[in-house]
Amino acid sequence: MNQNPIGQSCKGSGCMENVPGSCSLVIFGASGDLAYRKLIPSLFRLFQKDMLPDNFSIIGCARTPMDDDGFREKAGQAVRDAVKNDIPRKMLDIFLQNVRYVSGAYDAIETYNALSLKLSDCESKYSGAPAGRIFYMATPPLLYGGIVEFLSASGLVEEENGGKWRRIIIEKPFGRDLESSMELEKNLRKYLQEKQIYRIDHYLGKDTVQNILMLRFANAIFEPVWNNRYVDNVQITVAESIGVEHRAGYFDQTGLLRDMFQNHMMEMLSLVAMEPPASFEANRVRDEKAKLLRSIHPFPIGNLGDYIVRGQYASGKIDGVDVPSYHEEQGVNAGSQTETFVAAKLAINNWRWNGVPFYLRAGKRMSRRVSEIAITFKKIPHSIFMPMLPDDLPQNILVLNVQPEEGFALNIQAKRPGPKLCMGNQVMDFFYKDILKGEPPEAYERLLLDCMLGDSTLFIRNDTIEISWSLLTPVLEAWGKAGDSPEAGKLYPYKSGSWGPEEASKFLHAGATWRKP
Ligand code: BG6
Repeated sequence: MNQNPIGQSCKGSGCMENVPGSCSLVIFGASGDLAYRKLIPSLFRLFQKDMLPDNFSIIGCARTPMDDDGFREKAGQAVRDAVKNDIPRKMLDIFLQNVRYVSGAYDAIETYNALSLKLSDCESKYSGAPAGRIFYMATPPLLYGGIVEFLSASGLVEEENGGKWRRIIIEKPFGRDLESSMELEKNLRKYLQEKQIYRIDHYLGKDTVQNILMLRFANAIFEPVWNNRYVDNVQITVAESIGVEHRAGYFDQTGLLRDMFQNHMMEMLSLVAMEPPASFEANRVRDEKAKLLRSIHPFPIGNLGDYIVRGQYASGKIDGVDVPSYHEEQGVNAGSQTETFVAAKLAINNWRWNGVPFYLRAGKRMSRRVSEIAITFKKIPHSIFMPMLPDDLPQNILVLNVQPEEGFALNIQAKRPGPKLCMGNQVMDFFYKDILKGEPPEAYERLLLDCMLGDSTLFIRNDTIEISWSLLTPVLEAWGKAGDSPEAGKLYPYKSGSWGPEEASKFLHAGATWRKP
């Protein structure tokens, strides 16, 4: 599809992007939400940017009976719904020519035989080197093990030398707890090598999340103050204003700790707090993330409520519009005790961070949609402006804005023009939209491209999943057993449109408050 020679790398001033060699992408669960809302539009955007290989096919696979044309029509609609700008008709038609479909049950060998034929048919038209294959699991996680078993039985994941690589992308949740994630891993590893498995967390595909590493390790000024001598506390917030929407069937069985903490929150925490890796290479970065997660102090189960607070949204108003409580949402079980909000205080037991609290908070139906990491620096040791000005001058805060206003901001104190002594809070900021003149790329674009290129730096290694489950599984067990006692983690209601239950503030250190970004 692209005009560049296969595998070409375009290097500019500080920019590097590679174009993958020939490959095909099979999407299991192709008639589902993820394929339509994210995967197909992201593939189209890559095509628009000339980042897909010349020889490339997308094969949807699902139970819904449909032929190639039927799926092409749906894929075309998915692109039109997601890509707001005008799409030249011809461009979309060329993209859709490479889209095919196989329908069948995931547990029938005939499906995989049909898939194999369709892949061979697509690949017979490719020129040059043999093609790689990606199998994307966009199905419910319970099906992953079975699909991989059938892929293996039909020889579809066998790798051969000379470019015939075979890769599997799996979506979170990676199990429901430590035991089930280990079970999933055991099933995958029966048929696949670790280098074939790409565990996706779309937060890692966000430019602003990747920028944490650039900011920390491509600048000399931050690293010297990135430690317990200068940092007072770190707050990581992922707030959403939406509720469970049409996903109650999944969410009510899952809850926010599994849905957001085990993955997105832990990933952002590890990027912001890890030691510098020796190089920007997949396993060197993942080694440091694993080391950091291993340094987190386990939650004290006897007094959980002092370290982690959970809540569930009640009715309220978002942007002036009345919204129902979690219990009133369609598909939520009567009397559900599922948490839609979690706030936690974490301690990292290492030389760099000893004594610095890390406060993490994520929730649905909160005041507004915002994801950010705020690093609050310590107070100045002594104010020379006393007694004319109070000595409790506001602390400096560096905010990494993950979304929706992608960028970062540094709050500093500066003299106001005029009076001899007049200090004010000033913000030095940088917003992606000002330099990009447009939206940053969709996270799935980066991740799909990296998988085609065999770069797993932004994918998750299994050891980090197990470490984070070993921190969170005891919490889930305690919540499950002890019901509603404050020590074990009572489920506190919070008004939709607020910043969560007030109880989430009780474990903050004296003088600290949750930010209201
Ligand atoms: C998903 C969760 O992983 O992330 C959803 O399953 C959540 O519940 C979503 O809404 C948030 O992603 P984003 O990119 O909109 O912040």
